[in-house]
Amino acid sequence: MKIGIGNDHAAVGMKNEIMDFLKELGHEAVNFGTDSNASCSYAVYGEKVARAVAAKDVDLGILICGTGVGISLAANKVKGIRAAVCSEPCTARLSRQHNNSNILAFGARIIGIETAKEIVKAWLDAQFEGGRHQTRVDMIMEIEAGE
Ligand code: RB5
Repeated sequence: MKIGIGNDHAAVGMKNEIMDFLKELGHEAVNFGTDSNASCSYAVYGEKVARAVAAKDVDLGILICGTGVGISLAANKVKGIRAAVCSEPCTARLSRQHNNSNILAFGARIIGIETAKEIVKAWLDAQFEGGRHQTRVDMIMEIEAGE
């Protein structure tokens, strides 16, 4: 899969390690994040990846900031985006299976690299289950459409 990855200054090192990990898993990683440790705004990178996912320029997105919160909040403002902040693999897997998340977010200041890799693997291995979950995801998207 082609995966867009974005980050702010808090997550340059983790972004690089996750990009290498994605390549090891056989995926293409597209870097939309900053490569500088200079302070910057997570919203810029959350939006870039979200727009690439929404436009189908990439299949899925991964966002990393200090906590994963700010960058996911920004991404979720783009139509069609369901970004889930996850700090362990079970939530990541269920966010795909039940919520059809199309962006995974986590915090470089919250979890270590090995946990981050487990989260990424669990998320990428999971598939949306549809059925009753489709009905619920459709309800979320109807809220967005009505805004
Ligand atoms: C940057 O210091 C920090 O606020 C940011 O990476 C993130 O944690 C925000 O949600």
